[in-house]
Amino acid sequence: MSEKISVMIDESKVDARIKELGELISRDYEGKTVHMICVLKGGVFFMCELAKRISVPVTMDFMSVSSYGNGTVSSGIVKIVKDLDDMIEGKDVLVVEDIIDSGRTLSYLLETLKSRKPNSLKLCTLLDKPDRRVAEVHVDYTGFEIEDKFVVGYGLDYAQKYRNLPYIGVVELD
Ligand code: IMP
Ligand code: MG
Repeated sequence: MSEKISVMIDESKVDARIKELGELISRDYEGKTVHMICVLKGGVFFMCELAKRISVPVTMDFMSVSSYGNGTVSSGIVKIVKDLDDMIEGKDVLVVEDIIDSGRTLSYLLETLKSRKPNSLKLCTLLDKPDRRVAEVHVDYTGFEIEDKFVVGYGLDYAQKYRNLPYIGVVELD
């Protein structure tokens, strides 16, 4: 089986939206340091581009989670595969994700992070598929709301491929 990728959101639109989000976040966090937490691996491209557009001080940390389940459907039980290097107590934490789908991963993760007593905890996602939501998640900053299609690029993968595409594409199987 081979797959074709068609463009859903082109590179210039993604870049322009990330610039806007960076400006918005810079205003909202004025006088503070944003402690950005990237959920690996998907969030990494978005977080790097977003961080470059933020004008207040930024620190960064990374975590990796895997959800127990059958691969494409997340179960909501999340295992922390790589935890944060630093404590988040008292920090203004901004979790950066590639996409919120069912919301299960993030609702679990946000609860876990909340228990570590950050000063504030917000969520920024490049993409949101609201139609797919099962677990409630409050999203503070959204790049684009998209329809329920399987997308790749800008960190998102299909069988670990296509993360490096500089645009958001839709996978078409033929
Ligand atoms: P959920 O919100 O717990 O269902 O899971 C979200 C995770 O599923 C994301 O962080 C992605 O890793 C993955 N995911 C969901 N939708 C897509 C998609 O359209 N393309 C690639 N990965 C996706
Ligand atoms: Mg992800």
